[in-house]
Amino acid sequence: MFKSLFLFFATTLSLSLLFCQTSEAENINNRDFGKILVVYYSLSGNTRTIALTIKEKTNADIYEIKTENEYPGSPMIYITAKKQMNPKNYPKLKNDNIPDINKYDLIFIGGPVWWYTVPAPILSFLSQTDFKGKTVVPFATHGGNYGKFFEDFESKIKNAKVIRGQEFKKVLKTDKNLLDKKISDWLATFNEKEL
Ligand SMILES: Cc1cc2nc3c(=O)[nH]c(=O)nc-3n(C[C@H](O)[C@H](O)[C@H](O)COP(=O)(O)O)c2cc1C
Repeated sequence: MFKSLFLFFATTLSLSLLFCQTSEAENINNRDFGKILVVYYSLSGNTRTIALTIKEKTNADIYEIKTENEYPGSPMIYITAKKQMNPKNYPKLKNDNIPDINKYDLIFIGGPVWWYTVPAPILSFLSQTDFKGKTVVPFATHGGNYGKFFEDFESKIKNAKVIRGQEFKKVLKTDKNLLDKKISDWLATFNEKEL
């Protein structure tokens, strides 16, 4: 009886260890991507969920972009967000503890889609940063139409090599396992030669 119980636990333990090793093998860090940073803006948690998962899976550092002023609720936020798309009206950011991006080899930058494009807090961040020599991966969360987010992101960022952008629809309403798989599958496509 004790022998079979022991055998059962030993088998379960070795299977879980094997499983852990397999998921670790998927980790982007097992390939040579150097030091990774995740930068994100999130108003209502969708983008934060993706950012934290990327951080976990890649062992990255993380930085949250925050605006000095809070946004109004709906429907006023739509008007404010639209106005701020003009570079003259980009929102002021809380620039505390901004990481030195020169320390990083690969930088993920993500935010919500606002008005079919990149939201002003991200535009504000991009306008104050030179990404010379850096490889950047954009990601966006949205409610169903990400419009020109990726084209616009690429045209606004300065001097970066932009690769492998990924969109995520209705994140907080998506099954956790499905979301996790989508992120793992995406990260598994990365190729160190792209850096
Ligand atoms: C001002 C504003 C504009 C938006 N515009 C779009 C849009 O053009 N297309 C879309 O699919 N979703 C749009 N959304 C929905 C957000 O992109 C979506 O809920 C996103 O995942 C929110 O991310 P967050 O929770 O990280 O802030 C908009 C939301 C706001 C507040």
